[in-house]
Amino acid sequence: MGHNETIAVEDDIHLSFGKKLPVSVERGEGVKVWDENGKEYLDFTSGWAVAGLGYSHKAIVDAIINQSRKIIHNPNSGLTYSPSRARLLSVLKKILPSNLTKVFFTNSGAEANDAAIKLARKITGRKKIISTLMSFHGRTIGTLSATGQTVQTERFNVHMPFFEFVPFNDCEAIRKVLDDDTAAVIIEPIQGEGGVRVPEPDYLEIVSGLCKQAGALLIVDEIQTGFFRTGPAFITAEKGVSADFMTMGKGIAGGFPFGAVAVAQSIASKIEDGDHGGTYNGNPLGCAVAASVVQYMIEKHICINVHSVSKSTKIILHGWKKKYPELIREIRGEGLLLAVEFTKKEYVSYIQSKTLENGLILNIKHGTIIRLIPALTVEWEEMFKGLKIIENCIFNLLCSRVNSEIGVLHVTGA
Ligand SMILES: Cc1ncc(COP(=O)(O)O)c(C=O)c1O
Repeated sequence: MGHNETIAVEDDIHLSFGKKLPVSVERGEGVKVWDENGKEYLDFTSGWAVAGLGYSHKAIVDAIINQSRKIIHNPNSGLTYSPSRARLLSVLKKILPSNLTKVFFTNSGAEANDAAIKLARKITGRKKIISTLMSFHGRTIGTLSATGQTVQTERFNVHMPFFEFVPFNDCEAIRKVLDDDTAAVIIEPIQGEGGVRVPEPDYLEIVSGLCKQAGALLIVDEIQTGFFRTGPAFITAEKGVSADFMTMGKGIAGGFPFGAVAVAQSIASKIEDGDHGGTYNGNPLGCAVAASVVQYMIEKHICINVHSVSKSTKIILHGWKKKYPELIREIRGEGLLLAVEFTKKEYVSYIQSKTLENGLILNIKHGTIIRLIPALTVEWEEMFKGLKIIENCIFNLLCSRVNSEIGVLHVTGA
């Protein structure tokens, strides 16, 4: 099957919930992928902040081969002991916030959040879950109900009851709605899908204090921010926040579907047999891959690369903001979770299609935001090359016929 035939078959039969980029990706290596015609692309999406080590990394490939030769799925679906799970638990222990002493594995981020919400209700005997506007916690009916983006939720009549939403980065708003029926507050340390929104430095800490006062539990969703995406292993640990639950996914296994929920001892002690479970949870293959990925990130001090590439990237992005004030509204983010917000959707759709023609795959949020989330192993030369492709498109936007079609702009200091 060739490139065009693949596209034809998929367009015909695949039930897709989004508009696809017209690229049939056959293989990947590091930050690069190749389509079926052999065309090379740089990928600044890492599959939505998942492939932290890049594509086809040896640590992942070897773990899959070695573990699958031994065993892929546990007898009694996990209710036996498993060396690969034990290895993953030992590796995770090195980076988890110190108060989170027990871990349960899931197959995705949404499943981890679902488990946390469900267990928080059971443990507190309360119903209400407080979440934030523009948050994203998953697409199951439970996590969708906790998601604060109407564009994601409003079509699905009806949500789970007892979810309330407050503006992000607003402690007072949380204080007002916390009551003696609040089971938990669920929060992202930086809103990822919401458009990379970074709160005040003490936000998480204050929310944690408010939860404690109200007897409510705190669920920190590190599914997008975790595993060194923003620099530290987890923002929760970096800030010294004592969450009751911390949920993980995406980067944990570099592309193998996996997730986890870590809980404080006070929570673990209230969990009873049968409270939760799942056929594939903590399967040996996923555990082996995750252990290998996380071990590699720790050993190679991946945070150093994240910090240095991020620092140089931010200098360039802020330079764009100064040069193209009519086009660029804001630069946001930490580590390699960065966003360039443009003033108009037309600019971003133009940039996305032109960068694709020029061999760069980008992720767009809410029409106006380019989210830059490359592999954490991206080299500065690769990052620079991709940024140059974007800037050329921005410049062409100003100069080309497209510019005259969408209005007169001018550039300052260029
Ligand atoms: C913060 C956050 N929570 C939860 C999820 C859902 O994770 P998954 O797609 O693995 O179910 C996502 C996915 O984008 C996310 O960014």
